[in-house]
Amino acid sequence: MQFQTPSNPFPTSSYYGSDYFCDREDESTHIIKLLENGQSCLLMCNRRLGKTALIQHIKYLLPPEYGFIYLDILATENEQQFLDALGSALLQSFPEKSSVGKSVWEFIKGLRPIISFDQLSGIPQVSFQVQHSEKPVQDILLFLSKLDHPVIVAIDEFQQIQFYPEKNTDAWLRSTIQQLQNVRFLFSGSRQTLLSDLFSNPKKPFYKSANPLKLEKISQEIYREFIIRTFAKKGKTLTEVLAEEILDWTKCHTYYVQHLCNRLFQMDKKKYERADWQDCAQNILKEQEVFFFNYRSLLSKQQWKLLVAIAKTGVVYAPTSKDFIGKNKLGSSATVFKSIDSLLEKEMIFKEINQEGAPYYQSYDVFFERWIQGKDF
Ligand SMILES: Nc1ncnc2c1ncn2[C@@H]1O[C@H](COP(=O)(O)OP(=O)(O)O)[C@@H](O)[C@H]1O
Ligand SMILES: [Mg+2]
Repeated sequence: MQFQTPSNPFPTSSYYGSDYFCDREDESTHIIKLLENGQSCLLMCNRRLGKTALIQHIKYLLPPEYGFIYLDILATENEQQFLDALGSALLQSFPEKSSVGKSVWEFIKGLRPIISFDQLSGIPQVSFQVQHSEKPVQDILLFLSKLDHPVIVAIDEFQQIQFYPEKNTDAWLRSTIQQLQNVRFLFSGSRQTLLSDLFSNPKKPFYKSANPLKLEKISQEIYREFIIRTFAKKGKTLTEVLAEEILDWTKCHTYYVQHLCNRLFQMDKKKYERADWQDCAQNILKEQEVFFFNYRSLLSKQQWKLLVAIAKTGVVYAPTSKDFIGKNKLGSSATVFKSIDSLLEKEMIFKEINQEGAPYYQSYDVFFERWIQGKDF
C-alpha cells in the first residue's frame, strides 16, 4: 500500500503508514488474530485516542488478500443513511477497474442507486432512494459473504445506530450478520456506555457478539522514544526531559501530543529548549480560546462552574462530596448530579473507572483543562 508523505511528521488527522504511527503493536496483533480467526471485535475508548488511526493501521497490516471496508456512521441519522454509507464504502474500497471491483460495482449498480463523484477527489458516493433499507443492507452483506476471500467490515462510531428512529436496526443487523461466512466486523466507538449496553446487555441482539477491547493511552515511555526519534530523523534534537514534559502537559492523550509536537516541529530549530514547547503550548491555548468561551455560552451557569472545578482539579473522584462542593461553591449535591449528567451528555467531561474500581471524572478536552488551570475563573 502506498501512502503520501505527510507535510509534518506529526499528523493530526488521517493515517500515513507505520513510519508516522506510534506503537499499538499488541493491540494490532490481538485484533488481527481475532479477525483472522473469524471473530468480530469491538474497539472502544474516548475520542482522539486513536481508534480510527488504529483501524487504518490494521487495514495496512492485514494480509493483502483481505477485503477491507471502512465506514464512519457518526453523521448518519437513520437506516437509509446507513445504507448509503455502506454502499459508498463498498465502492470506495474496491476500485472499479480491479477484478473484484468489477463485480462489486455491477452488484451495487444493480440495486439502482444514484452514484455521484466528488468533483475534487473523484470519490464515489451512492444514494439509494428506497423505502426500506433493511433488504439492500442484507443484500450487500450477503454479497460480500460470497466473495472468494475474507472481508472485514469496519464500522466506526457504531453506537450511532442507537439514535436511529427505527427501533429494531440492531435486531435485523445482528440476524443478518449471523448468516454471513467470511465477513468479520470491527466495530468501534467512543460512547462507551452506549456500546457496552449494546454488546453486554443480555436483552440486546448484539449481546456478546464481538470481543471487546478498550484502547488505553500509548505508553508514555514508548511515545517519548517515538517523538525523539521522529524529530531526530529530520535532524532535530529534543531531549528526553523535554519530551517527557510535553507528554505530561498533554496527558499523553494522542491527539494533543500530536498537535503540540506538530507545532513544535514547525519551529525553525535544530535544538529545542524548554521555552520552545511552552511557547507553542501557549499559542495553541490562545488560538483555542474562542472555542473555550463558546463552551461557556453553551452551558448553564451551574454546568460551567462544575466544568471549571473539574478541569482545575484535574481528576475528581467525589464531585458531590461536601468538600468539593464547598471549595468550588457549587450549591447543592442535587444540582451537581444534574450538571454531571448534562456535561457527560455533551461530552465536556468523561467518566472512567480506575484500577480499584472507583469512578472518577475528568475534562474531555486536555487543552481546555490546561487553559482553565492557567486562568483565574
Ligand atoms: N498510534 C498513533 N501514533 C501517532 N499518531 C496517532 C496514533 N493514533 C492516532 N494518532 C493521531 O491522533 C489523532 C486522533 O486519532 P483518531 O484515530 O482520530 O482518534 P479517535 O478515532 O479515537 O477519535 C489522529 O490525528 C491521528 O493521526
Ligand atoms: Mg475516530
